[in-house]
Amino acid sequence: PVLVVDFGAQYAQLIARRVREANVYSEIVPHSITADEVRTKQPAAIILSGGPSSVYTAGAPALDEGILQLGVPTLGICYGFQVMASQLGGEVARTGRREYGSTQVTLTGDDSSLLDGQPSSQVVWMSHGDAVVRAPDGFSVLAATEDTPVAAFADERRRLYGLQWHPEVRHSEHGQAALEAFLHDAARLPGDWTPGEIIAEQVARIREQVGDGQVICGLSGGVDSAVAAALVQRAVGDQLTCVFVDHGLLRQDERAQVERDFVSATGVRLVTVDAREQFLTALAGVSDPEQKRKIIGREFIRTFEQAERDLIAEKAGEGERIGFLVQGTLYPDVVESGGGTGTANIKSHHNVGGLPEDLEFELVEPLRTLFKDEVRQVGRELGVPEVIVARQPFPGPGLGIRIVGEVTEARLELLRRADAIVRDELTAAGLDDEIWQCPVVLLADVRSVGVQGDGRTYGHPIVLRPVSSEDAMTADWTRVPYEVLARISNRITNEVDGVNRVVLDVTSKPPGTIEWE
Ligand code: XMP
Repeated sequence: PVLVVDFGAQYAQLIARRVREANVYSEIVPHSITADEVRTKQPAAIILSGGPSSVYTAGAPALDEGILQLGVPTLGICYGFQVMASQLGGEVARTGRREYGSTQVTLTGDDSSLLDGQPSSQVVWMSHGDAVVRAPDGFSVLAATEDTPVAAFADERRRLYGLQWHPEVRHSEHGQAALEAFLHDAARLPGDWTPGEIIAEQVARIREQVGDGQVICGLSGGVDSAVAAALVQRAVGDQLTCVFVDHGLLRQDERAQVERDFVSATGVRLVTVDAREQFLTALAGVSDPEQKRKIIGREFIRTFEQAERDLIAEKAGEGERIGFLVQGTLYPDVVESGGGTGTANIKSHHNVGGLPEDLEFELVEPLRTLFKDEVRQVGRELGVPEVIVARQPFPGPGLGIRIVGEVTEARLELLRRADAIVRDELTAAGLDDEIWQCPVVLLADVRSVGVQGDGRTYGHPIVLRPVSSEDAMTADWTRVPYEVLARISNRITNEVDGVNRVVLDVTSKPPGTIEWE
C-alpha cells in the first residue's frame, strides 16, 4: 500500500482518497508509527500529511527518523514537508508571514518528475505559518512563492519529495497531477486499484472467512448495506440471507426498489418483514422526537431479532447454524475509531433482545477498507441498481422523524408524495451531486390559511431542507435555483392534498441540524 502518515487535522483522509482516485491503494497510519512497523507493511510509497502544528514547538507530532531512511519513495505535504526538511538537515523557521488560501506559486526547477510538465506559474492552496527557508543537502528547490523561498523540493536520487501546498485540495489547480506524478512516475506504481480488483479481492477474502457457513445481513435500503450484501452474495451465493424490515417509514418506491430491482440485479436471497402495523401502533400518540427515535429503534431491533430467530430455526432444521453477520462499516469509521485492519469478532449487540446468550456472530465487513465513493463504484460494478447506489443519506428512523407531530398513515402518505416530487424535480434539474441530502418535512401540527380555486383552505406546510455538505457534521443550505423551487412548490400544492404552502429552510448547520427532529 501507500501509507499516509496522519499528522492530525482532516488532511490524511482526503489524501488517502485522492491516492485512491489515482487507482492506488492507500492506508492511513498514525504519525507515532515506528520505522519497523512501516517496514513490515512493505509500503510502495509514503505520504506525510499536513497538520496544525509547528515542527519546532515542544510536543509537536514527530516522525520516527528511521522512516525516511527506509529507501521508500516519500512525499511530504505542508507539515509533513517541514518535518522532512528539518529531519534531513534543512531549516524551518517562522517567517512572520502566513500564507492561507489560494496562492500564486512559481516553479523554479525543471529537473523533477514531481512537477514535470506543469505550468510554471499556477495557483495552489496554502495553509501555513512556518516555512522551509533552506532545503536539506541533496535536494533541489522546485518552486517558490513571494513569501516562501522553498515551496517544493526533490531529491531524485533518494526519491524524496515535498510540497508546501496541499495537492489534495481541489483549489490547487494541478494538485492531483502532482500526486499522480509522485505515485506513477516517482514511485512507479501502476494504477491497478479498480472496482474490479476490489471485488475480486473481497470475494476471495469473504470465501476464506465464511467457508461453508451461513450469513445474515440486514438491508436498510441504503447504499452501504446493499453493496455489502451484493459483495457477500457474489462470494457465497445463497449462504447469505438478507432481512429487510419494512417499518412503514420508508419513502415512495423504496421497498419495491429493494425487493424487485435489487433482488433481480444481484440474486440476493431476501426475506422482507412487513412490520408497518406494528410500528404505527407503537408510535400512536407520540410526538416527541427522541421518544419516536427510541420507539423506532426498539421496534426495529425486536423485528430484526425475530427474523433472525426464524432464520436460525429454519437453518437449524436444515442442520446448519448462522455464524456470520454482515455489516457495512466503511473506512472512515475504521480510521475514526482508531481501529486497526484486523477483523473484529464481536458478540452481536442484537442478543440483548433475547437471543441465546452464547450466540455469537462473527462480523463480515467487506467495505472496511473503502471510502463512500469507492463503495458506489463497487456497487455499480456489481450491478446494484443506480437508484440505490446513488442514494443520498436517509436516517434510520425514516419519515418518522420528518413528520413534526404524531406519525399517522395518512400523514406518511402525504409526506411520501411530497418527498417523491422533490426528489423527482431535484434529479431532473441535475442537482443530485450538489445536494448532500434534502429532507422534506411535514409540519403536521401547523396549519395556515390559503386559497385554492374558489375556496379557502386550511392546510399544512411542507419544508424543503436541501443541504450541501462533506460529511453531515457541518452543512450549508443549497442555493437551489428559483425556477426549480417554483416547480416543486407548484407541484406539491397542486398534487398533494392537505398541503397549501411550501417553505424553504435557509439555515446552515450549525446552528440548525439537517433534520428537523
Ligand atoms: P442532523 O439532523 O443531526 O443529521 O444534522 C446528520 C445526519 O444524520 C442523519 N440522521 C440520522 N441517521 N438515525 C440515522 O440513522 C437518526 O436518528 C438520524 N438523525 C439524523 C441525517 O439524515 C443526516 O444525514
